[in-house]
Amino acid sequence: MTVEQINNKGQLRHLLTLADLERNDIEMILDRATSYLTPAGHAPARDTILRGYTVANLFFEASTRTRASFELAAKRLSADVLNLDVNTSSRAKGESVVDTIYTLQAMQVDIFVVRDASTGIPSEIARRVEPHVSVLNAGESEVSHPTQGLLDLMTIQRHKQDIDQLCVAIIGDIKHSRVARSAHEALVKFDVREIRLVGPSELLPENGFEGAARCTELSDGIRDADVVIALRIQRERFSELGQIPDTAEYFRRYGLTEESLRAARSDAIVMHPGPMNRGVEISAAVADGPRSVITEQVANGMAVRMAVLALAHEHVRDSDGRKR
Ligand code: CP
Repeated sequence: MTVEQINNKGQLRHLLTLADLERNDIEMILDRATSYLTPAGHAPARDTILRGYTVANLFFEASTRTRASFELAAKRLSADVLNLDVNTSSRAKGESVVDTIYTLQAMQVDIFVVRDASTGIPSEIARRVEPHVSVLNAGESEVSHPTQGLLDLMTIQRHKQDIDQLCVAIIGDIKHSRVARSAHEALVKFDVREIRLVGPSELLPENGFEGAARCTELSDGIRDADVVIALRIQRERFSELGQIPDTAEYFRRYGLTEESLRAARSDAIVMHPGPMNRGVEISAAVADGPRSVITEQVANGMAVRMAVLALAHEHVRDSDGRKR
């Protein structure tokens, strides 16, 4: 059963995948995110709309950017924030994630932010929670990372006009990448002209990514690209360690360097969702160089997470009978 992400008032109820959102839903989120962007060096945007509401961050998989930005975003919107320490939680004693959710829901959590290594967990939680409660997917297995897809789209839009004219090259371990899947879902909704998946054949997905070209040569894959997105090799998702490519050989063939980037357009931007492995998928010179927008992605991620929390709050507020 598909879980409804937009309620009958057009409000964001859950954010589970970009695949089922309409373009205007994505525009609604990005418009709100833009309102929360403040230039570097200025005080971050703040709002009181989540005062009296509780956000629980449940990260059952490692995270720096997503976890920190959801926590800061909720605090900047004045929410009470619970960051469950999964290492000392009762899930380590065998409690199911659903029982963990029921337990926290009884403590009047309004919005759950969930990252898990298993497929289907955010949707399963969304099916089980009370009608006023929202669930935001903060990274689901290899399948979906919707706030990353939104921040990537936002970053591209802030640098490039005429998105339907762009060529976007995604390089690396695309087979195991929820970042690539969500980026692709966002980009096709905005009619990007060309998407290329670039990497060794064993790291390219056999299925999905409708309409995207596959390239096993880096120079072919990034030729005349407007946007180049580098991805790390996701070692934690390989079933056999022997399948992980040799680092030095991988960097030689697929590493983004100032030299390999010459094939892209001269005004191409370079993106990376992080965490980066410098000297494996990207050189330090490119990561810190003039084409890199990697730290902007992080800043845009803050704004996107504030936006999805603020929009989900509207659903919670309008469907919750409790006095606050
Ligand atoms: N891009 C991303 O999801 O980074 P984290 O794993 O640090 O959250």
